[in-house]
Order: sequence, then structure tokens, then C-alpha cells
Amino acid sequence: MIKRATYTSLTLLHRAPVRLMHWLNVPIMAGMFMSGWGIYNASPLFAFTFPDAMTIGGWWGGSIAWHLAVMWALAANGLLYLLWGVGSGHFRRDFLPLTPGAVLREMKQAVTFLLTHRLGHYNAVQKAMYWGVLLCGALLVLSGLSIWKPVQLSWLVALFGGFDFARRVHFLAMRSIGLFVIIHVAMVVLVPSTLLPMLTGTSRKQHDEQ
Ligand code: HEM
Repeated sequence: MIKRATYTSLTLLHRAPVRLMHWLNVPIMAGMFMSGWGIYNASPLFAFTFPDAMTIGGWWGGSIAWHLAVMWALAANGLLYLLWGVGSGHFRRDFLPLTPGAVLREMKQAVTFLLTHRLGHYNAVQKAMYWGVLLCGALLVLSGLSIWKPVQLSWLVALFGGFDFARRVHFLAMRSIGLFVIIHVAMVVLVPSTLLPMLTGTSRKQHDEQ
């Protein structure tokens, strides 16, 4: 008779720096979004404003104060994440390789709910989304810098095609990151087993031994 033994082992999926910086990013992003919407409401670019309940700061000056204060936390957290991601090999190991073919193939599988998620491996759609949000983050910071210091950074404003255009780029990047968060959280709801490892770092793996 063949004896079959089952045992579980703990596998490290997300290292502590990734988890710490990821979760710090959530209140930081909320602060940036809500104060940004407050600033926008004082001089809207488009034919709508954000509900007051979705803003912080109380008025234009208060929202600016919040935006500039939280901005330093975002800059520090973002820069550390980039340095750590490159230095530790995390980006190379976990965000690459990535090909347009794989993204298209897995995107089709995702919309037909056929995309499988292997714990500890990001699929091509996830990798593309993570690179996309990093790119939007860089665009958000650069366009933000150019509308914050348009005189000192006039070369940056010129690169964006002028102050008004930089403001539109800033809004568009914010909207793209907002869309990322909605899709990202929806993916977590669809595959809830990804959430606990992002909090604790580890996942239990079952092995069969004969
Ligand atoms: C505030 C905006 C957010 C941004 C910009 C963001 C960004 C990211 C990024 C870049 C990663 C990959 C991390 C890495 O390996 O370096 C990630 C992973 C993850 N995020 Fe977020 N995130 C955000 C909010 C959230 C929220 C609110 C949740 C919870 C519902 C969440 C749950 C997760 C989970 C579970 C993973 C791991 C996915 C997996 O293992 O497949 N994130 N996030």
C-alpha cells in the first residue's frame, strides 16, 4: 500500500520592505487624492467638481497645505521603493520578463475569467499594470513639480508644453492611477487569497509526499 503524507510549508511571497512601502502608500495616496481634489475644486479644469466629503483641507489653502505635506511622504516612500526595487533585483525578478504578446493573451483570459493566479508569481496583466502605475506615478510627480514651481522649473514646464498642459497631464495621471486602484482592488476581490500574503508576507503551501 502506498502511504501518502501531506505537509504544509510556509513560503515567503512578499518581503517586508515591499509590504511596508505598499501599505504606507495607501494612506499617502488617499491624502494626495483628497487634497488634490480640494485644490481642483477651487479652480476646476472641467465641468465638474468633487463632493466636499471627498476632499481634505476645508478650503483651497488648507488643501494645498495637505497636498504639499503628504507629497514629501509620497516622494520618500516612492524613491525608497524604486531604489529597493532596483537594488534588490525585485523589479527584474518579479516584474520581468514582460512581452506585449503575453499581456494580450492574458488580458483575453482575464476578461473571460480564465486567467489563473499562481501565488508568488505576478501574471503578465499584473506586471503591465505595475509598470503602468510606476510610469503614471513618475508623470504625476514631474507634472506636479512643474505646476508647483513653474518659474524655477520653467524647463520642465516647457517639456510638458506649458503650464496648462502640465495641469492636464497631472489630472490625467491622477485619473489613470485612480483607475489602476479600482481594477487592482477588484482583482484582489476576485482572488482574495492574495491579500493575506501581502499583509503577513507568507503563504501556506501544501505538499503531497508518497
Ligand atoms: C493606493 C494605491 C495602491 C497602489 C499604487 C498599489 C500598488 C501595488 C503594487 C505596485 C503592487 C506590487 C508590489 C510589488 O511586488 O512590488 C501591489 C501588490 C498588491 N496590492 Fe496594491 N496598491 C494599492 C492599493 C492596494 C489596496 C487598497 C489593496 C487591498 C485591497 C492592495 C492589495 C494588493 C495585493 C493583495 C497585492 C499582491 C498581489 C499578488 O500577490 O498577486 N493594494 N500593489
